[in-house]
Amino acid sequence: MHLHLARFHAALTPERFSEYLLLLDREERNRLQRFQREKDRHLFAASHAFLRRTLSPYVKIPPDQLRFVVNRHGKPSLDGHSKDAVIHFNLAHTYDLVVVAVNGGGEVGVDVERLDRDVDPLEIGDRFFSREESADLRDTPAAGRVRRFFQYWTLKEAFLKARGQGLSAALDRFTLHVLPEGRATLSTFSEQEEDVAAWSLFHFEPTPEHIVAACVACPAGPAACQWKWERDLAQPATDQQKESPRRGCLN
Ligand SMILES: CC(C)(COP(=O)(O)OP(=O)(O)OC[C@H]1O[C@@H](n2cnc3c(N)ncnc32)[C@H](O)[C@@H]1OP(=O)(O)O)[C@@H](O)C(=O)NCCC(=O)NCCS
Repeated sequence: MHLHLARFHAALTPERFSEYLLLLDREERNRLQRFQREKDRHLFAASHAFLRRTLSPYVKIPPDQLRFVVNRHGKPSLDGHSKDAVIHFNLAHTYDLVVVAVNGGGEVGVDVERLDRDVDPLEIGDRFFSREESADLRDTPAAGRVRRFFQYWTLKEAFLKARGQGLSAALDRFTLHVLPEGRATLSTFSEQEEDVAAWSLFHFEPTPEHIVAACVACPAGPAACQWKWERDLAQPATDQQKESPRRGCLN
């Protein structure tokens, strides 16, 4: 699985906004027009243009010619492209970071959150997480509890996005174990047909403020996750996250 990351600083110039708009299809432009705030229109245009430009080399189709369909929970996939070029992908965005996960073999899901969001980890954990997860949050020293909470939250959302359900499914029907070195495992799942070993889960912090989690279906054995920074979606190519490594790999 490959993760492509891009920062998204500030507002887009009118030129860059037009450049991104040109890549979008009618459905995307209609969605974009429904956002009241310019900030949301900019994020939508930048993240969907980034998605198209990221997928284009994998399937060898120009970005503006990619077509998408969505499942009943809203998960997009590529529509009607050659069988030789079947890829799975997923998109996630905060206001300042966009991530696209791409995988050849099986479904993928990805999530990103800012670590400085104001949350009450124990309250949310008790309400939404499994019993084991909320007990683990209580046992986690207070100084590390917010980070542990976001590890669970992003991993759970990435798993449900990989399955195509998103948050239409209950978060407490499965239990995750957060492991060191950016891994996690799924230990229980109430839907009997599910093979808990068939999913690989990853989490990492690409900047001091963000956490990213990704999940990939891999029935044949554990997968690896390679991640890479692309250029900032709002700024010229030279303005990059100098303090962060440019790429990494989680095995
Ligand atoms: C998917 C979901 C968890 C995204 O939550 P979020 O934290 O706001 O957004 P993220 O940044 O993580 O991800 C957004 C992207 O995920 C993708 N996505 C949307 N629905 C998805 C789903 N069910 N599964 C996986 N990915 C999905 C889209 O590419 C979306 O980008 P877009 O809104 O710019 O088109 C949330 O929208 C959800 O739970 N949806 C399902 C609810 C449902 O069943 N709706 C039915 C009516 S469509």
